[in-house]
Amino acid sequence: MQETMKGKVVVITGATSGIGQVAAEKLAATGARIVQIARDRGRGEAALKRLSECAPGVTHSIHFADLSRLSEMKRAAREIAATEPRIDVLINNAGAMFGSRQVTEDGLELTFALNHMAYSVVTHGLRARLVASAPARVVSTSSDAHRGATLDFDDLQSVRAYRGGLFESLCHGGPGFKVYSRSKLANILFTRELARRLAGTGVTANCFHPGFVATRFGDQSGGLTSFGIRIAKRFALTPEQGAETMVYLASSPEVAGMTGRYFSKCRPLDPTREAQDDAAAHRLWIETAKLAGIAD
Ligand SMILES: NC(=O)c1ccc[n+]([C@@H]2O[C@H](COP(=O)([O-])OP(=O)(O)OC[C@H]3O[C@@H](n4cnc5c(N)ncnc54)[C@H](OP(=O)(O)O)[C@@H]3O)[C@@H](O)[C@H]2O)c1
Repeated sequence: MQETMKGKVVVITGATSGIGQVAAEKLAATGARIVQIARDRGRGEAALKRLSECAPGVTHSIHFADLSRLSEMKRAAREIAATEPRIDVLINNAGAMFGSRQVTEDGLELTFALNHMAYSVVTHGLRARLVASAPARVVSTSSDAHRGATLDFDDLQSVRAYRGGLFESLCHGGPGFKVYSRSKLANILFTRELARRLAGTGVTANCFHPGFVATRFGDQSGGLTSFGIRIAKRFALTPEQGAETMVYLASSPEVAGMTGRYFSKCRPLDPTREAQDDAAAHRLWIETAKLAGIAD
């Protein structure tokens, strides 16, 4: 793998922390130039500094955007499309879980906005660049948390889902987990539909489960959710282990021709039946485009 990323451009979200940070540094160490989208100036600058230490002589770059806001998703993608003549890999990774329902300035539920809409809108904004740079790849971080999840097209903004009662909390880890699981199901459906739409362009789309990883994930979720995750993290993988499949999908020649698949531990794995529902994938794509005000 060492030589494969030399001269390649990798756009990545959520690389100021956790598995995204490790993957960006590993890809940089093998020659890739990293273009980050980050929301926090201090953490972004620190990440940029670490990247230049990994690979002196390569000018990595950063664009600042809060990926829960439609206008910022679109602006970041526009800026990158305008400044990067080629993009070899796009990694959609920024994500989080929220213990209580919050609504963004666009009227979207926050988990849905950050974990699903940002993947779709950033990919939409960079799609022409990816196609022009083919062979290229889109890699999206999903999760085995999708197992047990179903999409509710009448409640995409999770008004009802967050109302879950005691049963919900005891059996499903709380409404925040239920909403998070749906967003990770949405990542797989997005990947399937994207792969279908990109067929024949030379751009592949795959997604993956990193494992349960001790990162900053869950720290900001609030209340019982944060507490539970903090305890569970004692048994979790390291960020280095969690980043392995991301790096593999972004760079390995073994997956050059594979598309529309879900991976775990660097191997393709069948996601749930709900995650293989092509009609739902198509419908989600259309609803997403409408909500984002982009062409479908
Ligand atoms: N950890 C796990 O066990 C696990 C398991 C399955 C899937 N995942 C998925 O893995 C991905 C990465 O999570 P992680 O575990 O590496 O967690 P993490 O350490 O919390 O990293 C999350 C990244 O997303 C960024 N981010 C969060 N909100 C953002 C926003 N509004 N705008 C822009 N960037 C934002 C964070 O930026 P800041 O530095 O500014 O906070 C950070 O770089 C997520 O999609 C998560 O769902 C994680």
